Amino acid sequence: MNKIKIPSHVAIIMDGNARWARVRGLDRVWGHRRGAETVRKIVRYCARCGVNYLSLFAFSTENWARPKDEVDALMELFIEYIDKRLPDMKENGIRFLISGNREKFPEKVKEYFMRAERETAYGKSLNLVFCVNYGGRQEIEYAAGKLAGKDEKIEDCLYLPGIPDVDLLIRTSGEQRISNFLLWKLAYSELYFTDVLWPDFTEYDMDMAFKSYRRRNRKFGKRV
Ligand code: IPE
Ligand code: IPE
Ligand code: MG
Repeated sequence: MNKIKIPSHVAIIMDGNARWARVRGLDRVWGHRRGAETVRKIVRYCARCGVNYLSLFAFSTENWARPKDEVDALMELFIEYIDKRLPDMKENGIRFLISGNREKFPEKVKEYFMRAERETAYGKSLNLVFCVNYGGRQEIEYAAGKLAGKDEKIEDCLYLPGIPDVDLLIRTSGEQRISNFLLWKLAYSELYFTDVLWPDFTEYDMDMAFKSYRRRNRKFGKRV
């Protein structure tokens, strides 16, 4: 993929893990495991293609309502992912950031999040924004609370100030909805939906999304 018109900020709603497992007669957790493999591949590919920000929806504020065994397995996977991937994130200059309200996570998970943020803080290639216990409405409420009485912009009070708007939003698995993802930053994003389930999503599928993005005529309300 050449670097012409690569979106600077790509956001992905990584959906379809459970369906991937179900058609194989496997437990949902195996779908999440394969999904984590896809994360590894796509992070590497986006860094190589010159994407600056990659926001991944890994756990929504609503996902706590899932069965306890699934939530527990996801917590374990976050730890495992960081544990395994931290060395190559550091080596490749990837900066790991958390967006969302981390208070609700088990202590051990919080420690891994902090460790990954701390040890990759000087990364200069891809900013990998892991959105966990993330809700778009909650983020706007948080910003409004922070703003109260101050002469600042909502934009500067979001979970991670300084991150640009999303250029391209991808959702896998055929669902065509936002599910409370980055409401504020999606205002002028190009949307790309694919039927591919997240565990099956490859570099080729990412190229298809980039290709589609290249053909878009972004107007931002102007006559261009
Ligand atoms: C997305 O896959 C992963 C998370 C929400 C954590 P799902 O678990 O939602 O899989 P489907 O959409 O039910 O197939
Ligand atoms: C959105 O997927 C959240 C993540 C991908 C982490 P869901 O599977 O939770 O969304 P709905 O329930 O289909 O809207
Ligand atoms: Mg889903």
